[in-house]
Amino acid sequence: MMQKNKNFYITTPIYYPSDNLHIGHAYTTVAADCIARFKRMQGYNIFYLTGTDEHGQKIEKAAIDKNMTPQAYIDDIVSNIRKLWDTLLITHTDFIRTTEQRHQEVVQEIFQQVYDQGDIYLSEYEGWYCLPCETFFTERQLVNGKCPDCEREVQLLKEESYFFKMSKYAHRLLDHINEHPDFIQPESRRNEVINFIKSGLDDLCVSRTTFKWGIPVPFNEKHVVYVWFDALINYLTGIGYASDQQLFNKYWPADVHLMAKDILRFHAIIWPIMLMALNLPLPKKVFAHGWIMLEGGKMSKSKGNVIDPRILVEKYGVDAIRYYLVKEMSFGQDGMYSEDMLVNRINSDLANDLGNLISRTAAMIMKYFNGQIPKPLKPGSIDEELKETAEKTFQDATVKLEKLDFSAYLISCTRLISRANKYIDETEPWRLAKDEKQKDRLGTVLYNLIECIRIAIVLMAPTMPLLPERANKQLNIFDNIQELTWQSAGEWGISTPGNQVKKGEILFPRIDFQQMEEKKLADLNEQVNKTHNAAVDQTTNEKEYISIDDFARLDLRVAEIISCEKMEKADKLLILRVKIGEEERTIVSGIAQHYNPEQLIG
Ligand code: MSP
Repeated sequence: MMQKNKNFYITTPIYYPSDNLHIGHAYTTVAADCIARFKRMQGYNIFYLTGTDEHGQKIEKAAIDKNMTPQAYIDDIVSNIRKLWDTLLITHTDFIRTTEQRHQEVVQEIFQQVYDQGDIYLSEYEGWYCLPCETFFTERQLVNGKCPDCEREVQLLKEESYFFKMSKYAHRLLDHINEHPDFIQPESRRNEVINFIKSGLDDLCVSRTTFKWGIPVPFNEKHVVYVWFDALINYLTGIGYASDQQLFNKYWPADVHLMAKDILRFHAIIWPIMLMALNLPLPKKVFAHGWIMLEGGKMSKSKGNVIDPRILVEKYGVDAIRYYLVKEMSFGQDGMYSEDMLVNRINSDLANDLGNLISRTAAMIMKYFNGQIPKPLKPGSIDEELKETAEKTFQDATVKLEKLDFSAYLISCTRLISRANKYIDETEPWRLAKDEKQKDRLGTVLYNLIECIRIAIVLMAPTMPLLPERANKQLNIFDNIQELTWQSAGEWGISTPGNQVKKGEILFPRIDFQQMEEKKLADLNEQVNKTHNAAVDQTTNEKEYISIDDFARLDLRVAEIISCEKMEKADKLLILRVKIGEEERTIVSGIAQHYNPEQLIG
């Protein structure tokens, strides 16, 4: 049954457009999209808000470093972010930019209101500031003199500031958290927040005077509003606070604010207190997922190890990347990313299990029933058991998604797929096909497989939005693909016998590791060729030299080549093992046409 007139409001953090986004940001946005699609399939009206957090010292500095105005600097990046969300098939209702007029007005109105009621006062801030996190710290909170969150250098600030009376609301917030066990999730994070509040809340510095890139404090233009105070308000602006009362009433309080654990405190402490000061109800849930980690630790631009989701989508397809992201992170835990793990996951879950189930079933229906989905007859106990597994999968997947336990939800779906594959092995349709008297039984088996596939596809549709349509081209099981309902996955036996199955493309081709490695090598070789040719052109034309400043930035070192060999299947590349003092390194160099390996050793 469709639940009408139900409203659901979900948000992601608004990201800093200080740089292009990576798969960590894509994770949150895809996960939120998965919930938005799931709820839409359940018949809810959805407001899904994402956007960009465009003010603050960090953005101003990034722009100055590039010799640009902040606005010009961010416009470019924001347009890339929008394109990224299109590429990932994100179905946000609105994209908010904090530099928009509609937002500035709301922030100024709120600042004024909280000031007028005496919850904001003028004083002087003296303490530490972490620029990458845009966060204030006391001396006591620093770890080895560095930022306790990102471990980077902090700067000492001393400036006149407005302060927000957080301390006044600490008790009320603790009571709220205790009375609403679902408010902060998962549980372990909730306990962290409680302990943090109990250790005492200082009033929060909510304005800055030493830079300009922010929303001016309405009654004192020397100050700009602190970027977090400004940013959190986006969740109100986005649904029409102070401009569209009807829309606002429809969607506030938010159902879920989704984010990673790094910014939970802002959402679970500062934000609710701001809302209390405004006399607004608090969001129903603030959910902090873990981080996507790489082998070398957390992804960050400064480490130079960020993974660009656009490249992955181009290589493996959007459904596969979305699937990987949603599956890889266990509830509230960190998840690891490597391309090998991604390829393994695609090969095992999608190419082997799901892809094979679909292609085997379609092939058998074509071979034994001229492509017409057969009619099921009386079920046996093995069929009943399959049906029960499907029903249980529906219930399980629903519960897990409601809890935002993304990975467990997909694990339920893959269990159904494995069970169906096993059912093929157990029922041996190829043997039934040899006996004309078993034709009805064969039809029942194949119909049951179609039902499992249909149910799995509906359940996976919020994660893999292209899957239903791609699969339907061959299976022809959905009459109205635009309006798949979640509930239809809870019903057994609704595929229509007689519908025509066709041969189609392989939905998830197996990725060949070796081929991939060879391709990487070929690309590298080609790149070396290009660089080499460009260098030759440069020397021939006697073009510009680098300046003395560029030269001063070089770090030149003498190393001993201790081994050297030609790289297989690459005519320009040598692999050099070099020793620099105590350290050894491997270098791939495009000089094979000029040196033999033996000439170089030593
Ligand atoms: N602008 C603030 C948020 C303001 S919300 C009112 C901000 N922006 S951010 O660009 O740094 O984005 C942080 C968020 O990006 C994280 O909370 C998380 O949602 C996502 N992620 C960034 N890196 C991530 C990983 N490595 N792994 C998982 N999520 C990650 O903070």
